[in-house]
Amino acid sequence: MPELLAPPAKNTYHTYGIWLYTEKSREIKSLKKERSPSVHGDKHWDSSYLLMDYFTHNPLKKKSRILDVGCGWGPTSIYLANSGHGVTGLDVDDEVFAFLDVQAELNGVAVKTRQGAMASMKKADLSKYDVIVGGDICFWDELTDEWFAMLKRAASAGVKKLVLADPGRSPFLKLVDKCYERWDCDMHTWYCLEPKRFTGSLLIVNLDKKAD
Ligand SMILES: C[S@@+](CC[C@H](N)C(=O)[O-])C[C@H]1O[C@@H](n2cnc3c(N)ncnc32)[C@H](O)[C@@H]1O
Repeated sequence: MPELLAPPAKNTYHTYGIWLYTEKSREIKSLKKERSPSVHGDKHWDSSYLLMDYFTHNPLKKKSRILDVGCGWGPTSIYLANSGHGVTGLDVDDEVFAFLDVQAELNGVAVKTRQGAMASMKKADLSKYDVIVGGDICFWDELTDEWFAMLKRAASAGVKKLVLADPGRSPFLKLVDKCYERWDCDMHTWYCLEPKRFTGSLLIVNLDKKAD
């Protein structure tokens, strides 16, 4: 059984080696009074735990340069930074970053942040990353095309891989079809047990390999 660790602060929980604040914590309650995320960046989404589980079993190369698209409160970014990678959290909503920052501090890790939509990421911006990740960030129809366009720029900028987790919404499934036509892809049904059982989908796209 894993070692029972003393929490670093009240109202926190431990998952995949990192600590996150619960909704009941003083930190989250007071941030919620000051900040109002408006594009669903209002909690930790379960897809982030799928990514943590996937990367626990399939670790990335050491010190990978990672872009976490739609990072929200940063659970995935913090997990990957805690694993020794260089991580930038991108989010269209400026209001989420205070939640990310307070939790990065709780874990003693550094995560860079960048405000902007996927559509704002030019080829030169994307060339700074090896891997793109995202958790539950293909939930509106228009996001399918925004993702696909960014992935085309990312592939030509030399980004090697996408790992995208989702509960299985239809815009995500449309993106899966588009990616399969263009690149070497894998799709997995995945589950995690921390901090609770959750099952969803993982799309892995090898952006450096064309589809057969
Ligand atoms: C459902 S939340 C998921 C947050 C985080 N990935 C997680 O797993 O907890 C979606 C996040 O994507 C951001 N977002 C929505 N549309 C975006 C876009 N076009 N470009 C970048 N971020 C976007 C939202 O502001 C929100 O923080």
